[in-house]
Amino acid sequence: MFASKVGAILAAAGSAVGLGNVWRFPTETGTNGGAAFILIYVFFMLLLAMPIMVAEFAIGRHGGSTVFQAFEKMSGGRRGWRWMGLLPVISGFLVLSYYAVVAGWTLYYAFEALMDGFAGKTAEDFTADFGAFSSDSLLPVFWTAVILAMTCGIVALGVRRGIERGSKLMMPLLFVFILVLVVCSLTLPNASLGLKFLFYPDFSCVTGSVILSAMGQAFFSLSVGLGCLCTYACYFRKDVDLMKDGISVATIDTLVALLSGLIIFPAVYSIPGLQPDAGPSLVFVTLPNVFQQVFGSIPLLAYFFSLIFYLLLVMAALTSSISMLEMVTAYFHANFRLPRPLAAILVTVVCMVLANFCSWSFGDWADVKLFDMTIFDFFDFLVAKFFMPIGGFLMCIFLGWVVDERVLRAEMTNNGTLRSPLYPTYRFIIRYLAPLGILLIFANELGWFRFLK
Ligand code: PFF
Repeated sequence: MFASKVGAILAAAGSAVGLGNVWRFPTETGTNGGAAFILIYVFFMLLLAMPIMVAEFAIGRHGGSTVFQAFEKMSGGRRGWRWMGLLPVISGFLVLSYYAVVAGWTLYYAFEALMDGFAGKTAEDFTADFGAFSSDSLLPVFWTAVILAMTCGIVALGVRRGIERGSKLMMPLLFVFILVLVVCSLTLPNASLGLKFLFYPDFSCVTGSVILSAMGQAFFSLSVGLGCLCTYACYFRKDVDLMKDGISVATIDTLVALLSGLIIFPAVYSIPGLQPDAGPSLVFVTLPNVFQQVFGSIPLLAYFFSLIFYLLLVMAALTSSISMLEMVTAYFHANFRLPRPLAAILVTVVCMVLANFCSWSFGDWADVKLFDMTIFDFFDFLVAKFFMPIGGFLMCIFLGWVVDERVLRAEMTNNGTLRSPLYPTYRFIIRYLAPLGILLIFANELGWFRFLK
């Protein structure tokens, strides 16, 4: 699949960088109190998500063809481990179903930008517009269907080469646009209040749920814990330096998230009536405001800047949704011998049905609750705060305790051809630190052993 070493990094980075950075990160930071949450998130990124990302690479590349077979092949006859192959299947359906809703919103905003729909609007207009759009029972569903169809088309037709090439241009361009927006956002009135929210930690508001959210965000942002990256790593070449790639992808991913925070929060404090804890609408209300406030006096600039920015965001969302669909499609293709296009279409249809329910959570079905959460929130909770940490934990146990140590060493050093000074530290993290950390957070959450309220 990936002809070059660079293709491997691009695919993993394409999966990692997406709405998780630009939409979910500011949303979670806003609802979890700001700076303290960010510090904990970065800590988990280093200690948990990044090492587990490298673990997924190692399992995928060594195991070959599918996640099912990878676990079976590497488990040394302990056949129970092959059930880990179901993780990407179940969670793939869940994550794509609600991610596609937000990706659909993004596509709609790109369309609005194309039609010059933001011109002359005020902050109240943007808030009202988003509320009306997201609670509509048809419009967001339509845009979600378009995104799912695009994702399905790319996975079914296998035009991933184009995506690989596109990513090479798209990623740096997105980065430049984000940087420009950061500078713009910092010039808005009251920007310093946003900076305070981002950089002055108040540890008194750190609770068990904040810690669980920070861990969930680290996993979600890097796409780890579900076997998604195992699926990609099956196609990695033998000369890819897994550790180096993992560090590069995690660094890019964290930077994009932090920079998104630097766009959103200074702007939030400059818009009357907007609160950092507004939830999923935060980014969709704030961004068009930034475009209007900063470039409003030069309408042509506002038009092109917002259009290109939303298109880049749609691309970033697509490279992530492709990785979600790929992990489920690969399973049905390999295990049931379904042709890839058929497998991709079947999965997409199921996701579309589930996505309807998620989308209606913002309108007609707002009162339908599962464990006190809307369907959308419940899917997000299941993926980021349940499946991902548990999957990550099991991968650490598998690679740290079940798999022959020589296999791990061979993967980290490319069969002894690479020097890997970080290997001993890495093995220590995978064997002890990461699984223990995840266990402690869950123990606290479930009340088995409370160290935080
Ligand atoms: N990491 C992606 C993002 O930040 O947008 C989301 C994601 C992709 C989550 C793939 C899970 C996954 F398997």
